[in-house]
Amino acid sequence: MDLKRFAEGIPKAELHLHLEGSFEPELMFEIAARNKVDIPYASIEEVKTAYNFNNLQEFLDIYYAGAGVLLKKRDFYDLTWAYLEKVAAENVKHVEVFFDPQTHTHRGVEFDVVIEGILDALKDGEKKLEVSSYLIMSYLRHLDEDDAIRTLKQGLAYRDEIIGVGLDSSEKGNPPSKFAEVFSMSKEAGWKLCCHAGEEGPSEYIWEAIDLIGVDRIDHGNRCLDDPKLIERLIEMEIGLTICPLSNDKLQVVDDLSEHPLKTMLSKNLKVTSNSDDPAYFGGYMNRNFTDLIEPIGLTEDDIIRLAKNSFETSFLPVNKIAAYCGMIDDYVNVHAT
Ligand code: HPA
Ligand code: ZN
Repeated sequence: MDLKRFAEGIPKAELHLHLEGSFEPELMFEIAARNKVDIPYASIEEVKTAYNFNNLQEFLDIYYAGAGVLLKKRDFYDLTWAYLEKVAAENVKHVEVFFDPQTHTHRGVEFDVVIEGILDALKDGEKKLEVSSYLIMSYLRHLDEDDAIRTLKQGLAYRDEIIGVGLDSSEKGNPPSKFAEVFSMSKEAGWKLCCHAGEEGPSEYIWEAIDLIGVDRIDHGNRCLDDPKLIERLIEMEIGLTICPLSNDKLQVVDDLSEHPLKTMLSKNLKVTSNSDDPAYFGGYMNRNFTDLIEPIGLTEDDIIRLAKNSFETSFLPVNKIAAYCGMIDDYVNVHAT
């Protein structure tokens, strides 16, 4: 079997996905029309040409504008369902997805409307598509900590339906330490802790996330490569890094995919995974975040197996389920490896 088909077929988990970033222009137009809201684009083609970013902030401005058409429970259901259908067809068995409540509550959409639409779709995805899922509530770091604490309190009504919390949006100038209290409260609530760090921000933000916040997983974390001591610590603590190759390319975190550090990170034994981040904006869902790297960085069959196993091993699944999914990978490898 060729390497591309091998990567497409291997069972895998997605651990870094923003539901609002899976909003395809076609669905955006459909929901805008039924909600009778205007969007600043004349056609789907025009939307796609606007998706040309020089950095994280340019992307975020467009991402928040796009999310502005989501108003009703059904909209959040449709958004989530469309994503699950896409990944079910890509042999993704488990997902841990982010949603950004403040993006919606700040526009006057009720927290309950957002989360209930998402949860209904996730439940249907388990039943009808056999994709298991956990939901991560992400705080927006460009807002202040009090706002995050208000969001945490809204989330507590759904304590058992949320697996963990995250921190996303504009990284530079908004270090994890700004959110130490809300993370400590989130831990007390029994939630896992994730933090975007070291995407555009410096390696110091990754240190803060592990030493001060005590995160269970780092999202991105590319900049750890600037600091050998940090690399050592991440390996020793077996902290997962959810890497997003196509996102890094589109947001110019790397100059070119051929310069992507994923293979270097694998060779150092960092617990890295490959993920799509915001697939509707960055040109590819899970499988393209494997297959698009085969040629540019020389990803091998062993690398692909390692990435797939890491995706379950650094998930928040219980150990028996992790073992079962890794067994599924072994079965696949026995049949399909060269
Ligand atoms: N980084 C920070 N915030 C985000 C991202 C990202 O990659 N995607 C959606 N919100
Ligand atoms: Zn992200």
